[in-house]
Amino acid sequence: MTHHRVSRLDAAPRLAVVGATGAVGREMLTCLAKRNFPLSHLRLFASQRCAGGALPFKGRSMRIEELTAECFTDTDIALFSASAAVARRYAPLAVESGAVVIDNSSAFRLDPEVPLVVPEINAGELVRHRGLIANPNCAAIISIVPLWPLHRVNRIRRLVIATYQAASGAGAAAMQELLDATRAHLDGREHKPQVLPHPYAFNLFSHNTTIDPETGYNGEETKVMLESRKILGDPDLRITATCVRVPVLRAHAASLNVEFDRPITPAEVRSLLAGAPGVRVLDDPARNHFPMPSEAQGQGDILVGRIRQDVSDHSHRSIAMFVAGDQLLKGAALNAVQIAERLLTA
Ligand SMILES: NC(=O)c1ccc[n+]([C@@H]2O[C@H](COP(=O)([O-])OP(=O)(O)OC[C@H]3O[C@@H](n4cnc5c(N)ncnc54)[C@H](OP(=O)(O)O)[C@@H]3O)[C@@H](O)[C@H]2O)c1
Repeated sequence: MTHHRVSRLDAAPRLAVVGATGAVGREMLTCLAKRNFPLSHLRLFASQRCAGGALPFKGRSMRIEELTAECFTDTDIALFSASAAVARRYAPLAVESGAVVIDNSSAFRLDPEVPLVVPEINAGELVRHRGLIANPNCAAIISIVPLWPLHRVNRIRRLVIATYQAASGAGAAAMQELLDATRAHLDGREHKPQVLPHPYAFNLFSHNTTIDPETGYNGEETKVMLESRKILGDPDLRITATCVRVPVLRAHAASLNVEFDRPITPAEVRSLLAGAPGVRVLDDPARNHFPMPSEAQGQGDILVGRIRQDVSDHSHRSIAMFVAGDQLLKGAALNAVQIAERLLTA
């Protein structure tokens, strides 16, 4: 099944974007246009709420259609960026209709049958897809893209991640809530949170996913931990995460403490990361200039800096560093489009 799909995709494929009106969906359209993805036909789907409207694509106005069970009959690749519930319901229908689905939701990510792919790391996984490919959690992608070039040569034994996650990770409505709450705060008006559970302006809070009463980890932390293990192909990787939502509009950041198998120096890390795909070292102690969401936003590379020996490990095997990446791009839309590009050349 996979084989005929891949050869079918050699030609310019017919694409569908599900959730085209969302924060990720809109970026998918931008990525497809910017990268001149060789599509022969494009259809945009959203809920009934937005159906009938239009979105721009390459200077044209494209009609938004309502998602239905029948809409995938003429689709080769379906890029899904709606909810996990929408993916569970419609992705299998799209696959049955002959499409390859690249899904941004968490619905299928941990299914052992479904490849969970970051092209720079494990594009080789794509050969085993059966119509469904999962795009990883954004905080996981941003943290592990810069770790992969290191892990390849000096295995990571233990990883401690603390995230600083932007509003955009919670979708278009959360971005609007941050803007509205900030305006209200500056005007001295009261603002009642509607999308996120806590006041967002000039505040930060533990990630808004549910806490597992048994482990004490929230849903986002669990995703970061389990998905990182799957993508790195290391089910025994010792990893812990603390995920926090910060009042940044777009682009996540994360602090990484990494213990390797063997001793490693900051100079080695810098040289391994220089020129690594999808990574840009921004590490200027003299100017105190390091990765920031404001500079990460709008670009595909993950910024990496504050690379230093973790002095709490006397065996010299640990490094501390700080990363920032546009999670709407590399954390979601761009990664999905890069997967689609790999399918064409597979
Ligand atoms: N934001 C991120 O950085 C990020 C990163 C990685 C993964 N993801 C995942 O990507 C998905 C989309 O996230 P987002 O941030 O773009 O959310 P969003 O801004 O809230 O957009 C959701 C999209 O899904 C559509 N949708 C909702 N219900 C639907 C239905 N019943 N039928 C068809 N379409 C429906 C919406 O259409 P309407 O406009 O018509 O409501 C909208 O286009 C989520 O699963 C999210 O977890 C997001």
